[in-house]
Amino acid sequence: MERKFAHVLPGEHIYKGRLFFGYSPQEILDAVKNFNVREDDVFIVTYPKAGTTWLQEIVWLVVNEGNLQKATETQVYFRSPFLEFKDLVLNEVGLDLAESMPSPRVIKTHLPLDLAPSGLFTSKCKKIVLFRNPRDLCVSYFHFYRSSSSFGNYQGDWPEFLEMFLDGHVDHGSWFDFTKGWWSKKDNPDVLILFYENMKKDLRSEIKKIAHFVGRSSVSDEIVDSIADHCSFESMRSNPMTNHHDVYSIDKEISPLLRKGIVGDWEDHFTTDQSERFDAEYAQKMAGTEIPFQYHI
Ligand code: A3P
Repeated sequence: MERKFAHVLPGEHIYKGRLFFGYSPQEILDAVKNFNVREDDVFIVTYPKAGTTWLQEIVWLVVNEGNLQKATETQVYFRSPFLEFKDLVLNEVGLDLAESMPSPRVIKTHLPLDLAPSGLFTSKCKKIVLFRNPRDLCVSYFHFYRSSSSFGNYQGDWPEFLEMFLDGHVDHGSWFDFTKGWWSKKDNPDVLILFYENMKKDLRSEIKKIAHFVGRSSVSDEIVDSIADHCSFESMRSNPMTNHHDVYSIDKEISPLLRKGIVGDWEDHFTTDQSERFDAEYAQKMAGTEIPFQYHI
């Protein structure tokens, strides 16, 4: 059968209807379902490029009482494991890292709701879901697809990538599917929904919200301030523990992980026709959800 899209992800495969790259192989996705969730785990749930790394660093610091010293000793991806990821070159196997880690753990996942560990909602563990407006997210994903060999260093153009995104033909499957699934949990008391754009507008307030949600309301204003400073875009971009400059698969000359970190970059990528096409797809696929995405701040 002829492929709809030319780009091939390294090791790509379809798992329960979703496209995955080879770094989330079938046996890992199977094992994730039975992952042993602990009551004091904090899960960071995002679609790729929503600001995952940013939230990982913040939440890790909140649960570790703002211990900046410890944060400078280990890469963020080793302090906060990516559950369904297995990269033997980096020696990064999320399940193994998580299993051997002392509590409280801060665990990252990009999985859609139905592929997440079955223990997630039988446990009182905290689930922090971070959303980002899908236009900026799609642009960010496009650049990451270009720069990362894990995604096959995408050589196609932006219009083609946009079609892939709208079709759900990207690693971890459809953004629409992911977003609808997790949004349906918004009223669960152990779920906190955050928006990237609100973090950009007032990071200190969002850090306090997170601290309260994970039972660390006692965190002082000084610690909140130091976390906010440490987690500014400029600071994380120059920090070797968060900027991923050591990650062999990311060619930072093409595009670094911390690329622009702004709201509204989509305006430099979307044509008027693409905007209209995006809106039509969104209206059809997200009917009835009314998620307050912000495209400008
Ligand atoms: P851009 O490509 O738009 O710059 P993820 O961690 O989910 O892969 O998301 C990466 C995106 O989050 C990138 O977006 C990156 O710049 C942005 N990001 C990471 N840290 C950030 C920070 N401290 N402030 C603002 N944006 C940040």
